[in-house]
Amino acid sequence: TPKGSCLESVKIAIDTGYRHIDGAFVYYNEHEVGQAIREKIAEGRIKREDIFYCGKLWNTCHPPELVRPTLEKTLKILQLDYVDLYIIELPMAFKPGDAIYPKDENGKIIYHETDLCATWEAMEACKDAGLAKSIGVSNFNRRQLEMILNKPGLKYKPVSNQVECHPYFTQPKLLEFCRQHDIVIVGYSPLGTSRDETWVNVSSPPLLKDPVLNAIGKKYKKTAAQVALRFSVQRGVVVIPKSFNPQRIRENFQIFDFSLTEKEMKEIEALNKNVRYVELLM
Ligand code: A2P
Repeated sequence: TPKGSCLESVKIAIDTGYRHIDGAFVYYNEHEVGQAIREKIAEGRIKREDIFYCGKLWNTCHPPELVRPTLEKTLKILQLDYVDLYIIELPMAFKPGDAIYPKDENGKIIYHETDLCATWEAMEACKDAGLAKSIGVSNFNRRQLEMILNKPGLKYKPVSNQVECHPYFTQPKLLEFCRQHDIVIVGYSPLGTSRDETWVNVSSPPLLKDPVLNAIGKKYKKTAAQVALRFSVQRGVVVIPKSFNPQRIRENFQIFDFSLTEKEMKEIEALNKNVRYVELLM
């Protein structure tokens, strides 16, 4: 993001009423997020405990001995004492080092063998040390979740699993599994992504152009984006819409003054295409 735009957006978001901020070291803007939070605390608008900041452990930092130092680095950048949630960003490990995407001479990603359960134990230690209030995962499928849940001596189970989730990719089976295990689904790309061709499968049509979402929106004087967000919230999925536009940041918060009928929920659920925008081909 251009310098300063994240700072401004987070401040507008906090003023609008947002409290959950989804970040990561690899977004390279944690310093601006931390600054926005600290400025809003200094203004007296919020207290630290009002904010729910989620940070993420990147793939090159899975070896257990790297987990705590990596979180400490994030805290130093944020200039905060703790994160509310720390999650394993992806279930695959890359070779540790400075390269975020370490590649061999043929341009292939260099993976790294680590035991996800050992990484999880290091995450548990971060919670015990008070550096993270809660710990969770992201982009985990059922099998990977079960590996953690069935780990001998498990101390804390993941509180959440952040995955792609929206009307075109509704995740019915994973949602049910996570419900049974009291794991909250946090849905990323709830608006269908920015359609940036470098990482998005744009052969799947644009979500916000969907006729059903737009027709339902018309009835409530809401946009397709607001209907998509309301749909997720109403089925118990946490949404983390992304916008750097003040008007759209506010728009995406105006979803608590209407509700969708059961019939409309079913109609939107039927839009599921079982196709991801974010294929994570690595
Ligand atoms: P912008 O930053 O210009 O608002 P997702 O959260 O699914 O990743 O979607 C993010 C994309 O959707 C961004 O490109 C963002 O662009 C755009 N966006 C965010 N809010 C809205 C909205 N209310 N209506 C249309 N587009 C939106």
